[in-house]
This record gives sequence, structure tokens and C-alpha cells, in this order.
Amino acid sequence: MLHKLGFKKQSKRQETIEERKQEAMKHPVPKHVAIIMDGNGRWAKKRALPRIAGHHEGMKVVRKITKLANSLKLEALTVYAFSTENWKRPKSEVDYLMKLPEEFLGTYLPELVEENVQVRMIGYRDTLPAHTQRAVDNAIQQTANNSGLVLNFALNYGSRAEIIDAVKQVLNDYKSGIIKEDELSEDSFSRYLMTGQLNDPDLLIRTSGEIRLSNFMLWQLAYTEFWFTEVLWPDFSEQHFMEAIEAYQKRSRRFGGV
Ligand code: IPE
Ligand code: IPE
Ligand code: MG
Repeated sequence: MLHKLGFKKQSKRQETIEERKQEAMKHPVPKHVAIIMDGNGRWAKKRALPRIAGHHEGMKVVRKITKLANSLKLEALTVYAFSTENWKRPKSEVDYLMKLPEEFLGTYLPELVEENVQVRMIGYRDTLPAHTQRAVDNAIQQTANNSGLVLNFALNYGSRAEIIDAVKQVLNDYKSGIIKEDELSEDSFSRYLMTGQLNDPDLLIRTSGEIRLSNFMLWQLAYTEFWFTEVLWPDFSEQHFMEAIEAYQKRSRRFGGV
């Protein structure tokens, strides 16, 4: 068993990302991958660094995985960056997290524009600090005419609130005659959610060993394949992402059928 595992690891290590990518692209790749990027704080703690050092390191991983997802021709990559529950954290940490979009986009926006990536956001924009809103709005605007990967930031996002707000919007539209009762379907309801026209994720990745959804895309993940890893987000590599893609490609999705 140990020998077998050792052998497997060794053979994987010899494969380059390029080779793994070429092989994966012979089969259907997930169109939309969603990631709960978790474990930044623990990564920092292990190194006796402040938690924000983990968030900073995690930002570089977002860049790496975005490039890879784009080159695999994924349609969308949704990354959970800040939940509606994360406001409970110490103010200094929240302040840093609210500066991260500016730092990330300040550094990588030219590259994203160049690579044809479309930046988008789901979440409660209006309650973000003005400087965070500006950075995100600017990136969305500058990449609006791109046609490659949708890099969708879930920022100040919470799924239950999203669903309640969608229901309220439906009620309003019902009252004003925009939608009739028999026009409300799973499809039409989906378009009231923040994800709008975006396809549901095919694959969900959560790092850091936590096996829960933490209020992430509860409606959209109804038939998504889940892949969990103990790896902490700042340690998450292109090889790990390929591992998840390969695991996905081995699954048989039945959607209730046979
Ligand atoms: C994920 O890492 C990033 C955010 C939630 C913003 P954490 O900060 O949750 O890291 P851990 O879970 O404490 O290790
Ligand atoms: C989920 O991680 C939110 C993000 C990754 C942005 P948390 O670290 O906040 O989740 P819990 O508290 O462990 O459930
Ligand atoms: Mg966490």
C-alpha cells in the first residue's frame, strides 16, 4: 500500500502542468469551478506570522489559479473572498481584507485585461467600503468587453441573504405584473440570484480540511461535484487544481438519472 502510494506520488510529480493540462483537455472540463479559499489564517499561524500574511499569500494563489483556469478554457471561476459572516472578525483583519481587492487588482488588472479575463462580483457591493467598491467597479468596467474566463469574486456574499433578496424581488415583480405565478420556475428564479445568467458550478473546491459550505451558493450547488482537500489555500498549487479537475473527470454525474 505504502509502496503503491509512493509510486503514485512519484509518477504524478514527473508530469508537468502542461502535460496534465493537455491530457485533461482531451475530456470535458468543468465549465464553472467555485472555490472556498480557506486556511489563510492557519497557514500564517504555522509560520508565526500575523493572519493577514496568510491573506496576502493567498492572493498570489488566486492569480496562479486564474491563469490556469483561463488556459483550460473554463467559462467561470468563482472565488469566495469574503462572506457576510466575515465582518465578525477583528477590525484590523477586516480592514486588511477590504484592501485586498485594491492590492490584487492594482497589481494584476493589466494582466487580466491582457489575458481576456472578465472580472465580476457577487455579494453586497453597497456595504463595502468606498475604496473597495471603486477598485472592483474599475476592474469590472475595464474587463467588460473581454470574452475569456469570468473571474467572479464572491465578496461580502452570503447565500441565504441572496435567496431572501431574490424572493423579495420576485414578490415585487409579481405585484407589478412583470412575472406571473406560473412563470416562476427554477430557471426564472435562478436569474433573480446574484449569479444571474452564469451556469451553476460543476465543481466546488474547498481547501483547509473544513467540510462545510459556510453559506456559499446554496441554490447553485444543488448538483455540483464537491472536492475537499486538507491543503491550506496559500499552499494550493496548480498541481492541486489539476488533481481536482482530474477527480471531477472521473466522476459520473447522473442528475437523478441512471
Ligand atoms: C480564508 O482563510 C479567507 C477568508 C475567510 C477571508 P481564513 O482566514 O478563514 O483562514 P483560517 O480558516 O482561519 O485558517
Ligand atoms: C468561508 O470561510 C468564507 C471564505 C472563504 C471567504 P470561513 O473561514 O469564514 O468559514 P467558517 O467560519 O470556517 O465556516
Ligand atoms: Mg477559515
